[in-house]
Formats: sequence, C-alpha cells, structure tokens
Amino acid sequence: MAAACAAPSRANVDLDEAIAEAEARYCAAHPQSRAIFERNLEVMPGGNTRTVLFYHPFPLVIARGQGARLVDVDGHEYVDWLGEYSAGLYGHSHPVIVEAIRSALAEGIALGGPNRFEGALAAELCRRFPSLQLVRFCSSGTEANLFAISAARRYTGRPAVMVFEGAYHGGVFLFRRGEDAINAPFPWIVAPFNDREGTMALLEAHARELAAVIVEPVQGSAGAIAAEPSFLQALREACTRLGICLIFDEVMTSRASVGGMQARLGIVPDLTTLGKYLGGGLGLAAFGGKAPIMAQFDPRRPRAVPHAGTFNNAVLAMAAGLAGLTRVATAEALEALFARGEQLKARINARAAARRVAFCCTGSGSILALHCCRGPIRSERDLPPDAEREKLQRLLHFDLLERGHYIARRGYFTLALAHSEADEEALVEALDEFFALRRPFLAR
Ligand SMILES: Cc1ncc(COP(=O)(O)O)c(C=O)c1O
Repeated sequence: MAAACAAPSRANVDLDEAIAEAEARYCAAHPQSRAIFERNLEVMPGGNTRTVLFYHPFPLVIARGQGARLVDVDGHEYVDWLGEYSAGLYGHSHPVIVEAIRSALAEGIALGGPNRFEGALAAELCRRFPSLQLVRFCSSGTEANLFAISAARRYTGRPAVMVFEGAYHGGVFLFRRGEDAINAPFPWIVAPFNDREGTMALLEAHARELAAVIVEPVQGSAGAIAAEPSFLQALREACTRLGICLIFDEVMTSRASVGGMQARLGIVPDLTTLGKYLGGGLGLAAFGGKAPIMAQFDPRRPRAVPHAGTFNNAVLAMAAGLAGLTRVATAEALEALFARGEQLKARINARAAARRVAFCCTGSGSILALHCCRGPIRSERDLPPDAEREKLQRLLHFDLLERGHYIARRGYFTLALAHSEADEEALVEALDEFFALRRPFLAR
C-alpha cells in the first residue's frame, strides 16, 4: 500500500522544513489530484464545494472505494480511516447496501408519494432509540438540527438555544473557536463544554428564554471529545426541572450502540437527531423524540407545523438505510465496534506513552481523533492554539497519507465495520513510526 511514496529522508531539525519536505513529496506523488484541483479553481471558490474536504496545498481526489480501501486518482491506495466523517460505517459498497439500492432502483428513483420504506425505517428507529416515540426524515444532519431546534422553539414558545463551545451541529451551526461562522440567527447562549458549574449557572440565568439545549454526546468536529456522563446527566436533570427541551445531536454518535449514545449512557433526551450512515451512505437524516413535541408536525392538526423537503423520503437512501440497520448494524455488530474502537484508542495512547511523545488519541468507541499534544482533553479549551496545532497536524497528515492511511487533516478518524485487525495494526505501526521520526517536535 502506498508503495509509490518514499519514506521521509531528512533529519528533523526544523519543523517548517520538515513540513516543506513532506509537502514537496506529497505534491510530487499526486500530480493528477493537483491538476484536477487547479481546473476546479476556475469554476468553484477554492476549487471546493465542501469546506471540510479542503486542505493545503490541495486535497486528494478520490477515484473509488471498496470495503475499507480508497484509491486516489494517482493510483495510491489507502486504508480509509476518515469513513466519510462517520457516514461510512458500512465501508464502501457493502453487498447488502448495494443490493438494497439496486432492488429499489429497479422500481424508480423519485416517486413523489409515500413509499413502502419510510414507515419501516421509522419503526426500526423508534424500536432502537429510547427517546424516539415519533420520527421524521430529512436530507442532512444540518436540516435535522434545524427542525429539532425549531420544533423545540415552537413547543416551548421560547426563543433561545443553548449550545456548547466547540460544538458542530451542521453548516449553519458552528461553534468552534476562531470559526467565522455563518450561523442560523437564533439567539444562542454558548456554554462551556464539560463544565458543569459554568453551564448550570448559565442555564439558571437564561431559563425563561431557553427553548432547547443541544449537545453532541461526543463533540466530533472539535476533536472527538466525549461529554462526561455526569455532565449530560446534569443537563438532563436541569432541562427537566426548567422545562427546556434537551436535544442530543447523535448524527455521529448514534453508532455507539443499537440505541446510540443515549442507550449506552442511560440518558433519554427529549429530541434526537440522526444522520451520516443512516442512509447507508446516501443522503438521509432524521429528527424525532417525545410524542407531544413531534405531534406538532401532524398535518391533520389545526396550525400544524409544516415540514417540507423534496427528498425527505428519498427512496434509495431509505432502502439502503433500512437494509443497513436491520441486516448489518445489529446490536452485536455495533457493540463489538465500540469495544474495538476503545481498544484501538488505548493501544495508540500506550504507544505514545512508551515513546514519551506529547500525543493523544481521544474519542469514544469508533469516533476518534489524533492530537499532537498531551491529554487529557475535556474541551476545546484544552487544545493548543490553532496556529501551533495546525503545523503538527499537517505533518501527521502528510506522514500518514504517505504510509497509506487516510484521515482528516485535523486528526479525526473512525473505525468502520469494514476495517480488519490488520488495518488497526498497520495504523498503530504507522503512528509508531511517526512518533519515532518526529520525536523532536512532539517532545516539546
Ligand atoms: C454532530 C453533527 N451534527 C450535524 C452534522 C451535520 O450533518 P450534515 O453534514 O449531514 O448536514 C454533523 C456533520 O458532520 C455532525 O458531525
């Protein structure tokens, strides 16, 4: 794998030089990706249509994927650890998913009426997730959060929403440090993540304005930072007491068990949002929860809340999602995946400790991230400043790509059902090489 890439050769004396050297090798190895990027620059701002897929000097263009493997347009093969930011739970072209899509496809693509999959998928979700009494579908996680928040505002008659530092709930819900956000204009109360006292004080102070508290049980985009169970439990108790809707954004974490992170923790939110792998890799998301909140959307009711969306019941995505949930992402499969993710994290951290480098792997279950700094990381406040951090993360990214491991530049990665033990072993060894080679920078 990635045999075409040479191993780093120069001594590690200066970080900028090491990065420049790694970048030069990256450019030399990926002329086709670069050519496509340069053509795209003429018609798309930054040659890009999804910000998270851009990184300097240009991103790899992916030609195809199979199982846990990706191949770029220059012919390099990678273990796909990005897993489409967790939407790739099943791996690429899982036979069950492909068959479900083929068989639905034979009956048409967009039918313009209720289809035979939506009720079955809704029933499966309500069966699995403790908080789901009623559920509705939409096309993306962003949309699911938009509707969940709007439902809570309408239900409570209050305007404001509490969100946490470092949170990411979609393209118009960015709360990461230094982000120049184009957020939906709700009255936001931004609270400190995993800081029980600080959050409780804000909750009490704003109780009368707050419609909802929305939280990721594991902050994915901030760097796979898990919410502490006692923090989530405190949110649950305070929301119940103050009449505020608690929304768990389980767009990423729903894979933590058959009933998501909420079942694993034994904490039942009022509303839950889902997405990513829900459509088997096709675009599909959902929001749902307590019957009285969701019943607002019942179109038979006077003053029902409308919920539009051309692709809300997209046939192919629903067929793929239903097959994936019922035949592949079983309770046993998700339980085993969670345990494997925890073990992988522990192995990486043990290697970093043995090499005495400032490095840590964070996350929960199969949602993980690699950080070129010491742990523990309880919130984005524990991460080094972005400018400092970006350089080492860039070096890590180049070094792992060169060794055939595809992760996000910011270090995010996932374990998918398609990964083998050999893949895990290869990642641990590649990281061990990184620790040895880049020790002068990681020891600081
Ligand atoms: C926790 C969380 N919520 C919401 C979203 C938005 O989902 P989508 O990209 O489908 O709009 C994401 C996407 O990464 C996410 O990680």
